[in-house]
Amino acid sequence: MKILRQEDKKFGVTVEGFDLTTATEADFEEIKNRVYSDKIVVLRNQHLSSPEFADLGRRLGTVETYYEPMYQHPEVSEIFVSSNVASSDGTQVGVPKTGKFWHADYQFMPNPFGLTLIYPQVVPKKNRGTFFIDMGRAYEGLSDELKHAVEGTRAVQNVSRYFKIRPEDVYRPVGELVDEIQAKTPPSPHPTAFKHPATGETVLYISEGFTTGLIDADGNALDKSLLTALLEASGQLDDTFEHENIHLQTFEQGDLLVWDNRSLVHRALHTATPEPAVSHRVTVYDQYPFYEGLGA
Ligand SMILES: [Fe+2]
Repeated sequence: MKILRQEDKKFGVTVEGFDLTTATEADFEEIKNRVYSDKIVVLRNQHLSSPEFADLGRRLGTVETYYEPMYQHPEVSEIFVSSNVASSDGTQVGVPKTGKFWHADYQFMPNPFGLTLIYPQVVPKKNRGTFFIDMGRAYEGLSDELKHAVEGTRAVQNVSRYFKIRPEDVYRPVGELVDEIQAKTPPSPHPTAFKHPATGETVLYISEGFTTGLIDADGNALDKSLLTALLEASGQLDDTFEHENIHLQTFEQGDLLVWDNRSLVHRALHTATPEPAVSHRVTVYDQYPFYEGLGA
């Protein structure tokens, strides 16, 4: 295995020569450590079947199957399918236009996972890639005043704004659906900033997509302007995507991305004239709690 820093990029490494069939425990440990230190690891030249992709996930930890069945791969339910391509019989496998907003995966859940793996299957010829922001770096860049303001606060994470209507929801009253979403995935408060259990760095755990507000230690809502100021400082409100914190990760056919879902928020690059694109995702709980004290 040869690991190289991505040239001209803010972060991330590429790995040449990774082979799932011969990789050792030490190789997987090294990959994981580079995910924590470098945030994105791109395994080049992979040729994995769907069951093998799920196996790769299991070598890194405990695989989490996405809670909404419409996203699941028909044969390998642990794989989440993002696709704007209908199959030949006209049926839709997976869900189109996923993740077109800043978020961390499962941020709205009580116990998010540490690692996200993406294995693009159908790669657009142009305009491909995913935007990322390292929220550890974003925290570092905050003014002392903002760092002080988030101490002891929690960020309320809620899926509601981006929950996608399922085929079976057609003709259902919206109010009933909203009640169901709130019952199944109630808002999850997490620390606004927490210590990354593998690196010790402080991560600002907010996103434009899922964070609906901040609360103090007693559960009282804080003025909305604080959340806006934090999102602004992190780069998530920059519609030009030119903020210095924003990194565009591109990929080629055969690339398999593993990233640090604690540190990074990401946002899919979708264009007004989309090309066919299919991506498979596997998500993994690693050996650490998401942050200290969670699940204890
Ligand atoms: Fe995502």
